[in-house]
Amino acid sequence: MPLVKMSDLLAKAKTDGYAVGSFSVANMEMVLGVLKAVEETKSPAIIQIAEVRLNHSPLELIGPLMVAAAKNSSMPVAVHFDHGKTEEKIRQALEIGFTSVMFDGSHLPFEENAAKTAEIKRIAAEYGADCEGEIGCVGGSEDGSEDIAINCTSPAQAAEFYAKTGVDALAVAIGNAHGNYKQAPKLRFDILEQTAKCVDAPLVLHGGTGILPDDFRKCISLGIHKINIATATFDRVEQSVRAAYESEKIKGYYDLHTAEIEGAYKNALEHIEIFGCANKA
Ligand code: 13P
Repeated sequence: MPLVKMSDLLAKAKTDGYAVGSFSVANMEMVLGVLKAVEETKSPAIIQIAEVRLNHSPLELIGPLMVAAAKNSSMPVAVHFDHGKTEEKIRQALEIGFTSVMFDGSHLPFEENAAKTAEIKRIAAEYGADCEGEIGCVGGSEDGSEDIAINCTSPAQAAEFYAKTGVDALAVAIGNAHGNYKQAPKLRFDILEQTAKCVDAPLVLHGGTGILPDDFRKCISLGIHKINIATATFDRVEQSVRAAYESEKIKGYYDLHTAEIEGAYKNALEHIEIFGCANKA
């Protein structure tokens, strides 16, 4: 199965009532772990990296690796540029072969967010790629560097934003936040339900780490078809390595490599089961 477009994965997810996991990766071991889970469960998946993470994982290095890994997979895998902030990096991801990009204008005034997102949608289309936008503001920040307040999506604004931009997927803010939640989030299912009624595009849930399985399932039943998971992957990889050291399984570098892959694999496996996308490839 070749590298695929996000919109193709999400259209099928919408029809069949499941969500596709969009897993953030930072190195080859995480890519291998996620794709091992994908192969084993016969699932579609998205692998992604956010612009704020590029200081650790340069796009010109990790980008081609992600695209090659998706092409190598026997399952349908899309490669997504998450929380794009600058046109320069978004274009670079598209040149490398990413099949979708997000423009995150959630901090901008409505009109500016809509205009800039529409422009990125046009640029992505030149490459045959998809575009995700965000309306309202998901809490926290992708790399934990800022404590951005949650600003819940207004369904009416979401409808207007969608009409102005034609995005292929729309991220909503319903009480979700990036990073580990201090307490279990109370998601605004009412907002999600109303938004799904006035926006045709599949909706995206950011801040997947720490959301309870039943809440994920309810979100999926109300219109979420892409779920972003980042912190859970990084934490799980770190815990897997720590446990391997503590149980003296690490005797050399390649045991460390194996423990990293195992952490990313187990995390993806669990989320794939919850999202209902196993055997949907
Ligand atoms: P978490 O780090 O909370 O899983 O959020 C991931 C995310 O939304 C990436 O865009």
